[in-house]
Amino acid sequence: MDMKDEFLIQGLAGKRLLKGEIPIRGSKNAVLPAMASSFLFSGPILLHNVPHIEDVLRMSELMSSLGAKVSAKNDRTLLISPESAHAHILDTAIAKRFRASILLSGPLLSRFGKVVFPYPGGCVIGKRPIDLFLQGFKKMGARVLERDEHFTLFAPKGKLSGADIFFKIQSVTVSETFIMAAVLARGVTVLRNVALEPEVTALAQFLLSNGARIEGIGTTTLKITGGAPLSPKHSYDTIPDRIETGSFLLLGALSSDNLLISDCKPDHVRALIDVLRESGVIIKEGKDTLHVRGWKKANTPLSLQIKTHEYPGFPTDLQAPLVVFFTQCKGENLVFETIFEGRLSYIEDLKRMGADIVMWDTQRALIKGVTPLKGRELDGPDIRAGLAFLIAAIVARGSSIINNVYYIDRGYERIEERLSAVGVSIERRKKAGSA
Ligand code: EPZ
Repeated sequence: MDMKDEFLIQGLAGKRLLKGEIPIRGSKNAVLPAMASSFLFSGPILLHNVPHIEDVLRMSELMSSLGAKVSAKNDRTLLISPESAHAHILDTAIAKRFRASILLSGPLLSRFGKVVFPYPGGCVIGKRPIDLFLQGFKKMGARVLERDEHFTLFAPKGKLSGADIFFKIQSVTVSETFIMAAVLARGVTVLRNVALEPEVTALAQFLLSNGARIEGIGTTTLKITGGAPLSPKHSYDTIPDRIETGSFLLLGALSSDNLLISDCKPDHVRALIDVLRESGVIIKEGKDTLHVRGWKKANTPLSLQIKTHEYPGFPTDLQAPLVVFFTQCKGENLVFETIFEGRLSYIEDLKRMGADIVMWDTQRALIKGVTPLKGRELDGPDIRAGLAFLIAAIVARGSSIINNVYYIDRGYERIEERLSAVGVSIERRKKAGSA
């Protein structure tokens, strides 16, 4: 995988020609906190169903630079040994490449009593402040120093103390960070307004199964009694990626009468299944499969209003592919992005492909359909909009080039091979002029 790769896609001009099966890989946003949690253990942990994606490589590099041993046991199993970890300063260059690097702050601070990290990088989808992290750590007794965009945190006498923390916003990585911090803190921590995303619950269940004392899993209030490092008993099975599942469902709705999405958890994409069924898409649901069987386009135009929302609401990470879907729906549908204020910037490119979209303001877009799309050259601005461009390119007439493929590789495993297998004409090429 290369920063300079590009995808060349021949569009289907709206034809429903894709068919076959796409198995869903393990969730990026579930496996990253599970990897970070290894610092809470006294011995090696095993993680299964790990996806082959760039963010997992970045997390492995970052953890190795701290002295942990990260090794592949087989194709999708990682063994992480924290015992040799000696450092507490996150490598700036690696940490700035993905925001999930901040997940290490919780386990490192509670294990070693100190951590240094840069302002985290990641997708440019809004301001993405870290105030909730800093406030929470202060409540647990940490001292916070900021200099040159780096944060140095110390726990007095090397230990965080339990605290009662209310998060003013439900945040996925904040919830995960403080669950991990509390497991080794002194005394009881109560976390309120905890995010309910399946990735958060999976982390809490994993720690519980290994002896952490956590009450209230699956609710917004968690009571965690801290203790000594956990001795590993059970390995971690990465849950299927619900954003991949949803993206392929939307692709199937637009381009197939027979696309089987396997190894997934239908319950985790309930909000999207509902929207698609309301739009006339035929979806057969199995225990771990979703089968797209066609789309009965109703004569009455659709007029839906979809607001992105914390789980179990409609996920912000599926907002961009949903907008692409709405360009192919008759009617006028409104999408309101409520989680990140900068996450509709990709819409200008969809308009250049022929979409008819009116921005009501920076966070609300009215999509008028049906509009045929024309292939063109596109710069993926973040992981999820990058995949939405891929879907738009597949639906469009003519060929498209997608640049910034690294963003797609950050979160989706070998996407071109998996899409080719169901009939997409897609080729990965070195960008002209790159080494
Ligand atoms: C997680 O990001 C995901 N990343 C994101 O996926 C996802 O879009 C997002 O949750 C929402 O579902 C990972 O799990 C690694 P948040 P996170 O904190 O935790 C505000 C992808 O493409 N906030 O739940 O960073 C924040 O600005 C990525 O895989 C503060 O104000 O998102 C946002 O408005 C992109 N202060 C809101 O909370 C803080 O200190 C919710 O975001 C922290 C967050």
